[in-house]
Amino acid sequence: MLKTGVLASGRGSNFQAIIDAIENKNLKASIEILITDNPSAFAIERAKRHNIKYIFINPKEFATKDEFFKKIADELKTCGVELVMLAGFMRIVRKPLIDAFPNKIMNIHPALLPAFPGLHGQKQAIDYGVKISGCTVHFVDEGMDTGPVIIQAAVPVLPDDTEDTLSERILSFEHRIYPEAVRLFSEGRLEIKGRKVVIKDHPPVSSNIVNPPIDETDA
Ligand code: GAR
Repeated sequence: MLKTGVLASGRGSNFQAIIDAIENKNLKASIEILITDNPSAFAIERAKRHNIKYIFINPKEFATKDEFFKKIADELKTCGVELVMLAGFMRIVRKPLIDAFPNKIMNIHPALLPAFPGLHGQKQAIDYGVKISGCTVHFVDEGMDTGPVIIQAAVPVLPDDTEDTLSERILSFEHRIYPEAVRLFSEGRLEIKGRKVVIKDHPPVSSNIVNPPIDETDA
């Protein structure tokens, strides 16, 4: 069974979606540890409720960002983690963590990358005036939201949308595609070829909403 670790800075609803997928047996994986950089993150409450080990690592205790990320990598390795999931982790991951888990770190971003990377992807979409936005699960490289795309879901932007209403609509799709991406990884079905992630044995794309379509039949 795939051993995972989660990094989260806040509310942790994507963390919860992964927990739920595991508990509902849609995902054969375990969460070995939650690491947070924020001692008041609600994600900690979720870890407690589900008996998941958690630690707060204070970035201020490290002289450099690289040392902070080396400590995170060491904790994850100690727990035997094979896949790292960033779930609302609001920092750019540095080399020591990326080198420790090559092509084994995923992130969820609330926009259709490469559009609107960084903070407030939903507000950026509204301000730009796009009619469709969405969310992206991607592998993490050293850039900001630049790694190879695994799954995306497209979500309409409605004329009256505020940042909050669009965020909520996108979030409901985040909670679907993140567990799905992890499931594909756990089944050994993600192959990275350069910038592209090839999904093995996936049904042909038949929906313009979730790409690739979530395969509910063998979930
Ligand atoms: C989610 O919308 C996630 O996509 C976003 O933060 C939110 C965290 O929510 N991440 C980023 O913007 C990363 N650049 P959550 O804590 O409830 O999962």
